Amino acid sequence: MAAKDSKAKDTQAKYTVPGLEIQDGHRVAEILQMRLHALNDLQLTLKHAHWNVVGPNFIGVHEMLDPQIDEVRAAVDVIAERIATLGVSPGGTPGALVAERTWDDYSLGRADTIEHIAALDQVYDGVIADHRNAIEETGKLDPITEDILTGQTGDLEQFQWFLRSFLTNAAGELSTAGASTEKGAAQQGAAKKS
Ligand SMILES: [Fe+2]
Repeated sequence: MAAKDSKAKDTQAKYTVPGLEIQDGHRVAEILQMRLHALNDLQLTLKHAHWNVVGPNFIGVHEMLDPQIDEVRAAVDVIAERIATLGVSPGGTPGALVAERTWDDYSLGRADTIEHIAALDQVYDGVIADHRNAIEETGKLDPITEDILTGQTGDLEQFQWFLRSFLTNAAGELSTAGASTEKGAAQQGAAKKS
C-alpha cells in the first residue's frame, strides 16, 4: 500500500480540471490509463499483423491496417493528453503497459490473412467492450472524457466492421461466431474459407 501511495504522489498533480473534485479528476485519469494501455497495445498489435499477414489477400489486408493504426495512434495521443490535463502523469512506457495490462499478448505470428482478421476481430471485441465500460464509468464524473471515449468507440467499431466484412457471408453470419480466443477464431475463420 505504501508503494502505491508513493507512486500516486509521483504521478498526481495537486490539481485537476476546473469544476471537478480533485479525486474525481484523478479517478477519471486512472480509468483512462487502462484505455491508454489498451490502445497502445492495439496499435502495436495491428502493426504486427500488418507485417505478418500472408496469403492471396495480402495487399488488401496489409494496406487496410495502416489507416487504422494511424487513427489508433491519434487516439492514444488524445487519451494521454487528457490524462495529463486531468492532473495525472500518463504512463506510456512498454514496461508499464506489460506490467499493468489484464490481457495476454497477441497470439499469432506469420499467418494467413483470414486468420489475422479473425484474431483481430477478437482483439477489437475486448478493446471496444472495455471502452464502453469506461464511457459508463467516466460519464458519471466527466462528460468531456465521456465524449472523447464515445467518439473513439465509434471509430473502433467501424474498424471492426471492416474486419468483420471479411468474415461475414451473404446471410450475415460471422464465420467466427462463438469463438472466444484469437487462435480459436483464426481456426474457425480459416476452416470456413476452405
Ligand atoms: Fe508498412
